[in-house]
Amino acid sequence: MGLVHTLFRVLDGAGDVAAEAARHILVRAEQAAVARGRFRIVLAGGTTPLAVYRQLAAASADWSAWEVYFGDERCLPPDHGERNSLAATRALLGRVPIPQANVFPMAAELGPEAAAVAYTPLVEAALPFDLVLLGMGEDGHTASLFPGHVIPQGALVIPVHDAPKPPPDRVSLTPRALTATREVLILVTGVGKREALAAWRKGADLPVARIARAGRTIVLLDRASGGDLDPDGLPPDPPRSDDSGK
Ligand code: 6PG
Repeated sequence: MGLVHTLFRVLDGAGDVAAEAARHILVRAEQAAVARGRFRIVLAGGTTPLAVYRQLAAASADWSAWEVYFGDERCLPPDHGERNSLAATRALLGRVPIPQANVFPMAAELGPEAAAVAYTPLVEAALPFDLVLLGMGEDGHTASLFPGHVIPQGALVIPVHDAPKPPPDRVSLTPRALTATREVLILVTGVGKREALAAWRKGADLPVARIARAGRTIVLLDRASGGDLDPDGLPPDPPRSDDSGK
């Protein structure tokens, strides 16, 4: 198999990353709507993407073509302030006319196991996604895939317990699901991410690195998170092995 490449694009600040991410997503959404009549996007949790969601909410798009999934969710009540789905609703989904039937929140309030079982058929029916949006934690986690956690082979959605980033109970798409997509867009901003990005740069087998090397990935990062590193110095992706988890 040929080398699959991760494109690292360094932008000045977090605002530039958000603007470029929003622009890129809108281009992909238009392309997908024209080509296939729909745009299947997996939204990222955490705080980094919120500026992107707010910019998308101010844009015009063929919203009726959008189908919205989530990469992970915290096992909290649906109206809890720390829910990824609520944050996305406040920043984007509640502000644009995406048909409600096309938004697929994870029923994480049921608990990790039940939520994973309930979400699996939805993901199965949606693959391949058009774009998977992800952030990266300070330990190199992405979605709710944390270093050192065992990921069952073959699963698309898994329960997560003992997450080092609260809350401990979560539900997450697996690398197999997150890489079954036309493109992955990873956003990394802020000085807190420098260490993880440098480790990634040195070839550490972090959850985020495993996702990135499995397919077409664009990483948008700012200077504070390590963009002053020579992006050309980042290791090329190793050839994709058979156990890429697909
Ligand atoms: C979550 C996210 C998680 C997040 C990273 C980065 O539920 O917390 O899915 O993977 O993307 O922890 O979070 P920030 O963007 O807030 O730094």
